[in-house]
Amino acid sequence: MDRKEFIINSTLAAFAVSISGCKKDEETTTTSGGVLTPVEACETTSDILGPFYRAGAPDRYDLTFAGLTGNVIELKGKVFKEDCSTPIENALVEIWHCDTAGAYDNSSSDFKHRGTRSSDVNGDYAFKTILPGKYKNGTLYRPSHIHFKITHPDSEELVSQIYFKNDPHIEDDPWAGTKNAERRILPITLEDVNGNLAIEFDISLKNK
Ligand SMILES: [Fe+2]
Repeated sequence: MDRKEFIINSTLAAFAVSISGCKKDEETTTTSGGVLTPVEACETTSDILGPFYRAGAPDRYDLTFAGLTGNVIELKGKVFKEDCSTPIENALVEIWHCDTAGAYDNSSSDFKHRGTRSSDVNGDYAFKTILPGKYKNGTLYRPSHIHFKITHPDSEELVSQIYFKNDPHIEDDPWAGTKNAERRILPITLEDVNGNLAIEFDISLKNK
């Protein structure tokens, strides 16, 4: 499947399935037959930090810039306490991802494809950016992903990643291919009549 087909299939799939990063289930059965509590069922699970995190990414909504190629998306959601319903204001949401060729900006003062936002009084955060490309981890491509680091003085720090539905490289990825990542594999949705794309990722932080 080439990249264009991936985007189209992902978008179509979004109409059939609705999944958020913080799903509120009253009761979720595990594979072992146990039952998760509501808090466990909506927990935002962690993922690896990876080698490309840089502190100090600028506070900005719009990560796009002149000459940039790629499919523009709005990435948005809410930051909640661990009950997945109480909004957290002023949580620091940092994101970073590679460009369409799979490269991270690890040195420039532009901090390309990197940004920081503070959640507002309703817990809302948002970024305008592009869908990342892919890079190899050993012999395998990692699925397309966006890294997150979320911090707040009253909550446990969360480092995580999001992935996109129907990405053929998810299954064999050591991190995305696990049950731990299940609720972080997200649909890409058509935002409006102009064909703009959106991804929604709600986050719950464990209380300290
Ligand atoms: Fe990465």
